[in-house]
Amino acid sequence: MLRTNFSRINQTKAVFDDIYAMDDPRAYFSVLGNLDYMIPDVAEPVVRQILAAKAQATGVQPTVLDVGCSYGINAAVHRFPLTFGGLRHRYARREMRVISSETLVRLDRNFYASWPDVGLARFIGLDISAPAINYATSVGLLEHGVVADLETGTLSAEGARIVRSADVIMSTGCIGYVTEKTFSKILDATDERPWIISFVLRLFPFDSLAATFAKYGLVTERLAGATFIQRRFRDAEEFESTLATLATLGVDATGLESEGLFHADLILSRPEADARITPLEDIVTIASGRGRPIGPRYVHIEGNEGLQVTLEP
Ligand SMILES: C[S@@+](CC[C@H](N)C(=O)[O-])C[C@H]1O[C@@H](n2cnc3c(N)ncnc32)[C@H](O)[C@@H]1O
Repeated sequence: MLRTNFSRINQTKAVFDDIYAMDDPRAYFSVLGNLDYMIPDVAEPVVRQILAAKAQATGVQPTVLDVGCSYGINAAVHRFPLTFGGLRHRYARREMRVISSETLVRLDRNFYASWPDVGLARFIGLDISAPAINYATSVGLLEHGVVADLETGTLSAEGARIVRSADVIMSTGCIGYVTEKTFSKILDATDERPWIISFVLRLFPFDSLAATFAKYGLVTERLAGATFIQRRFRDAEEFESTLATLATLGVDATGLESEGLFHADLILSRPEADARITPLEDIVTIASGRGRPIGPRYVHIEGNEGLQVTLEP
């Protein structure tokens, strides 16, 4: 049977455990922001398209379980017109850097409550870090959070009750920390077979996850012809060892990791019947250049007199 052993590959990557375990996300945004961490932002348009397809297929607003959700940043970028990059600047302000975590949580609760929810999905999350989950639920990004390490432990009855309602499971920057062990414990607890959206570094083979998902009747598709930048390499050692690992795996890094950036693939796993009706290629359109700084553009808004054109700065 295929079984993942990511521990050797993980020696390639820098360790950031400290920043995941603070009472608020300031260190997280500072450290990962300085490495141009961007996967929540580059994943966002694609996740929106998949969530819209899922909602269309079922006629209901999906509940998304974000695995390795950390401080709930995916919920922030999907629920509100916010970006990782924009949030990073919020926390980098010198006024923000001197306040207590309690004050920051109070301000952030008000901040997130002040934005209209795009309404594409409800968000719940699972992470090994109790402080991160506590922050994400306290500020209202996640409706519920589960603190668990399902690589080594079991899902509590309360945790199982929370993840049960998940229609979609997603993860960014987390596979590698977690393997099929975590996902199978979650799948055992869900009512229906969910869709699983994985943004996974090309460094981590997905075979054993796909094999596990197949046992639950889920087929796995990988989006061809597109990759998603996660962040810059931290140092020459991370760069060199990643290239060496990719070479061992037979993955060609030319023009991708060789340019100094971690790249992730988009992988979607879902019930065979759903995949047959709408292949991944029909759901996802990549609009290159979308995230670049751009001048005012025309958009539609729904006004009292129907659809109107407005200029968004
Ligand atoms: C790079 S962060 C990604 C966070 C978030 N998904 C994002 O993209 O901004 C990795 C996250 O995985 C979490 N993590 C590490 N080991 C885990 C485990 N065994 N189970 C659940 N989460 C874990 C960490 O606490 C951290 O929040």
